[in-house]
Amino acid sequence: MKYKQELAEILFEVLGHEMQVKELEMLIEKPKNQLHGDLAFPCFSLAKVKRKSPNIIAQELSVKIQSPTFEKIEVVGAYLNIFLNKKLVSEDTVAEIIKQKDKYGALDIGNNRPVTIDLSSPNIAKPFSMGHLRSTVIGNSLAFIVEKCGYKPIRINHIGDWGTQFGKLITAYKLWGEEERVKQNPIKELLTLYVKFHDEAESDPSLVEQGRTWFKKLEDGDEEAISLWQWFRDESLKEFSRIYELMNIHFDSFAGEAFYNDKMDRVVQLLEEKQLLIESDQAQVVELTDEGLPLCLIKKSDGATLYATRDLAAALYRKENYDFDLSLYVVGNEQSLHFKQLIAVLEKMGYAWAKNMVHIPFGMMLKDGKKMSTRKGKVVLLEEVLNESISMARHNIEEKNPNLTNKDAVAKKVGVGAVMFHDLKNFRMNDIEFSLEEMLRFEGETGPYVQYTYARACSILRKANWQIDHVVQTSSPSWEKEWKVVSLLMEFTNAIKRAFEQFDPSQIAKYIVDLAQAFNKYYGEVKILENGAEQQARLALVSSVTIVLKEGLRLLGIEAPEEM
Ligand code: ARG
Repeated sequence: MKYKQELAEILFEVLGHEMQVKELEMLIEKPKNQLHGDLAFPCFSLAKVKRKSPNIIAQELSVKIQSPTFEKIEVVGAYLNIFLNKKLVSEDTVAEIIKQKDKYGALDIGNNRPVTIDLSSPNIAKPFSMGHLRSTVIGNSLAFIVEKCGYKPIRINHIGDWGTQFGKLITAYKLWGEEERVKQNPIKELLTLYVKFHDEAESDPSLVEQGRTWFKKLEDGDEEAISLWQWFRDESLKEFSRIYELMNIHFDSFAGEAFYNDKMDRVVQLLEEKQLLIESDQAQVVELTDEGLPLCLIKKSDGATLYATRDLAAALYRKENYDFDLSLYVVGNEQSLHFKQLIAVLEKMGYAWAKNMVHIPFGMMLKDGKKMSTRKGKVVLLEEVLNESISMARHNIEEKNPNLTNKDAVAKKVGVGAVMFHDLKNFRMNDIEFSLEEMLRFEGETGPYVQYTYARACSILRKANWQIDHVVQTSSPSWEKEWKVVSLLMEFTNAIKRAFEQFDPSQIAKYIVDLAQAFNKYYGEVKILENGAEQQARLALVSSVTIVLKEGLRLLGIEAPEEM
């Protein structure tokens, strides 16, 4: 980015200020093939301004651009292909990374303004499924990414702790539940009860009615209903925190659906004042025909509120409480309509900030090509997956590096990192086929591969007794063999920018895989530790690779062990 800007400034002067620096900068491209240069400038748009053929303009410009940064300029038709001065640029880049350390790549666009991120948000009394993993991992990474861009992230876990399903669950518990069994194995037992409710309800429709009654009692504050609900909730949160602990994920708020119970009347009142509430089939709804959407149900005929009502209250609360610049909702693709309706209702209410709410959807987690569903009991438990992954990582360490200290801690970082990386490496909208073998592969485009590359680079630095504050020596290599690695290091900021603009962590995941591959290739070709005039400069390069790999992994929420 820095060199792009430098080129744009030179062009600005050379062109006699005929185009703005920003405009010129936007025109500068990056050739797909590095053999064609590091930057390219097409002269087509200048042809109009200059009233000359673009090929002639390219010829003229090529002799006028003079700077030590740009070592060679080739004219190909209407294009200028520009080659950076490898020595100057490499030394500059490496020195910059070593100076900035984990601040390298940061963008200064957020002005420390708040961004709320609604992530994870599992439902109580149900297992934390692989499906929830996606929201947790993508949302957590987005929080790090917005922070790297200068915003203040606020991680909100909008726990699903309210709704008609708790009426069903209480009904099932009252009919078939045993306190002891629930105490021994809370979520598993509650899930069994929930599944049984649905099975039995198929032949006994009166159960549905009972469920509705219990939910109504819950909403009206009935003592028995509330205490059962509270118990289910506490047990569930205990299980969830075990999982978050494993993944090292922390939240700023656990205000879930129930938190908004006492904030719902206000929403209904506001909608009434704004004359947006109409009656349809005895229920209270907001019409969204003009917006091309189905109507949004606010209150059922029995007075019960809905998921959407609670989300309206939550949106208002978040704006008032956090004054967000952006409000992100990392929730599966199947809820797209819900979020369209939510935003449309808020816009109808006259809140301009509704346009700063973004639903960030993602594809499904499939098992044998089919959606995983909690209700049918066909669910893969995330905690089991994480633990299995950790134990496989532990096994690998035992085989490959039996003398390692902290084996358990490293196995945890690697095992959990593998699961997270598997989720983040593809564009979030793609469905993911759940495959334990695939995530646990320790070569190819996987988390363990990047972590291993990092550890290997750290070990080179340890062997050389490298100190980060060493100055890069002048007798350095030509930087020919290093160039691929250096040019990738320069790209880090761009990867972060893309990840932010598209709310897509896979931009970072792909970037660090590329960097790891380039580094491993370099490592295979060059004897870094060989004593010689070039050793110090090469170690500085290795050191900057460790900084960027570690920071890249951190932005994905993954830890980087120095040995593995
Ligand atoms: N609990 C919901 C589910 O598991 C997700 C909640 C997402 N967040 C929100 N504000 N609606 O489907």
